[in-house]
Amino acid sequence: MSQERLAALLSEKRSYMPPVHGKSSAWISGEEECEAVCRRALEDPEDFWGARASQLLHWFKRWNHVLVADEAQHKYRWFTGAKLNASFNCIDRHLITGRRNKAALIWQGEREMDVRCYTYQMLYTEVCRVAHALSSLRIRRGDHVALYMPMIPELAIAMLACARIGAIHTTIFSGYAEGGVRSRIQDSKARIVITADAAVRAGKNKPLKANLDPILEKCPSVAHVVVVDHAHMDDVSMKPNRDIWWHDLIDDFTLNSDFPCEIMDANDTLFLLHTSGSTGKPTGVMHSTGGYLTYAAHTTQWCFDMHDDDVYWCTADMGWITGHTYGIYGPLALGATTLMFEGVPVWPKPDRYWNIVEKFRVNILYTAPTVIRSLMRLGEAWTERYDLSSLRILGSVGEPINPEAWHWYHKHVGDRQLPIVDTWWQTETGGAMISPMPYATKLKPGSAARPLPGIDAAVLGAAEHDGEEGKEVGRLVIRKPWPGMMLGVFNDEGKYRSYFSRFGCYESGDGAQVDEDGYFWILGRIDDSINVSGHRLSTVEIEAALTSCPEVAEAAVVPMPHDLKGEAIYAYITPREDVPWSEDLRAKLRDAVRRDIGPLASPERIQFVSAMPKTSSGKIIRRMLRKIAADAEDTGDTTSLANPEVIAEIIRGHNNLMRGKAENAPTENP
Ligand code: WT7
Repeated sequence: MSQERLAALLSEKRSYMPPVHGKSSAWISGEEECEAVCRRALEDPEDFWGARASQLLHWFKRWNHVLVADEAQHKYRWFTGAKLNASFNCIDRHLITGRRNKAALIWQGEREMDVRCYTYQMLYTEVCRVAHALSSLRIRRGDHVALYMPMIPELAIAMLACARIGAIHTTIFSGYAEGGVRSRIQDSKARIVITADAAVRAGKNKPLKANLDPILEKCPSVAHVVVVDHAHMDDVSMKPNRDIWWHDLIDDFTLNSDFPCEIMDANDTLFLLHTSGSTGKPTGVMHSTGGYLTYAAHTTQWCFDMHDDDVYWCTADMGWITGHTYGIYGPLALGATTLMFEGVPVWPKPDRYWNIVEKFRVNILYTAPTVIRSLMRLGEAWTERYDLSSLRILGSVGEPINPEAWHWYHKHVGDRQLPIVDTWWQTETGGAMISPMPYATKLKPGSAARPLPGIDAAVLGAAEHDGEEGKEVGRLVIRKPWPGMMLGVFNDEGKYRSYFSRFGCYESGDGAQVDEDGYFWILGRIDDSINVSGHRLSTVEIEAALTSCPEVAEAAVVPMPHDLKGEAIYAYITPREDVPWSEDLRAKLRDAVRRDIGPLASPERIQFVSAMPKTSSGKIIRRMLRKIAADAEDTGDTTSLANPEVIAEIIRGHNNLMRGKAENAPTENP
């Protein structure tokens, strides 16, 4: 979190009132109603959540208790004793209403002409076929299924088919490389991996199946691989008895293939999704069936003011929690129309988003600040070419949105009148936690506004941060449980407990400030993760990829501010004794990270140093390295350093590097 951001945010004084038009039909309308709901929800949370769960979902059996809390273990179980099925809630129950032939899922492929549309009835048929198919591969309730797939309808169908049979899905972002995929499959002990021949990205095929094959040699749990023939590559190798084409598999279950839903317990795991943790190993966040789905539907309805005739587009990839909650589970539980896009915003031209908005008359658009910044840079000529008047609500997620990007989004996409809901949340929280409600909240650009009803967010303690001394920046925590909160961390009780260890309540790992109106200003991660383009990456994981190269003695990875990505990766490397500091080595290190974790984690800058700043016990002091990478003038107190002399050298190296010179080039006289 930079001093600049803090200053920029606090000097941002403009605010925007909620639109009048649309207010009368809004779910939550006006500041007063919003406050009344928040008050009621905090006064009697069980009554509030019980009512929401009844209104929003179909339960086969009602709960015995809304919440059973084990405060000592920080275990919170919502809707205990209740039975439901997520797939039933997202599909079946809409079939007996007027929504049966409504578009549930509209898919736009990378090529303009590639469009597929599934009504709720069609989705039902496909999901049942895949449920049959999985079951024919002996996948049962509680088994794990890994999904390493591009953004294609088969991915949504696979998720819902897993939910239908009670299997636990783990999606793996198709941009992850070997290590990222391997660790996730191994951790989940998936019995099946569903993948595709390739993902199509910016006109090129990016092989997935070929990528997966060597990884599977180290994943003994995997009995079968199901492959979607998506890009029609002709040289896909299929291992006999293990690999099966998706179309061959489901072909056996063509007609009349009703597949009854498994009756799940509210606290059965719906899915597992990994996020970067503070160790080298990804954290497997488990979400429940009842609490999660309630929270997904609840926040989708209120944060986006979702109505039955809305076309809703969440641009996030299904490899992240945003895709789960706001691409699939939330909108489908509400019986809405959700849009899925395979391509990227700028290919073949930077008009793809606006073209899609116009083509499908999108009403609600939910995207990330990094996308807005990259489109903003290319100019508004691209938005002006299209009719964006169908849009009613805009959303932002994944990282703090800088006021400049906010204003561009507001002006050029929102025609200066649409509300922007800046939603703060995390993989662990299941759904939005701090967010405006579009027809009820005054907006301050750059602030995620206030906690949603029933969410008891606070900023506690003083965080160590790189901002101005004396400013009260603390740690963002949530003091009361909420239904969307993770069930636990898969196979890692200690990791789950660590979220509660400092304050006895859920700690997010973000730094934040609250202003005089109770508005939250999120300042970014204060733990060992870096938020690159809205994606959480672990410094420890990247450091491990770097130190796996024999030339590297030590590596320290820190964030650096970046105009487009928000934060980028800055790596300090101490090469081994006789290894020359060369451009070749830099390229090799980048490549190692790209191959192990994926291109997203590739360092923006690599600086060679002869030694790291350390404490007397030999611990690297990353705080100073962060400041140097961020060009901060003052590196802070150096008295705790065992080797203070290295700081001057590292600063010199950094300055040289930023001027395009070698680290150890002689300094010129200014
Ligand atoms: C981290 C969570 C939530 C889905 C996408 C990322 C950052 C997220 C905002 C926002 C400021 C935000 C936080 C958070 N973040 N939304 N609106 N304003 N920061 O999920 O990978 O679990 O990352 O993303 O730092 O802790 P995730």
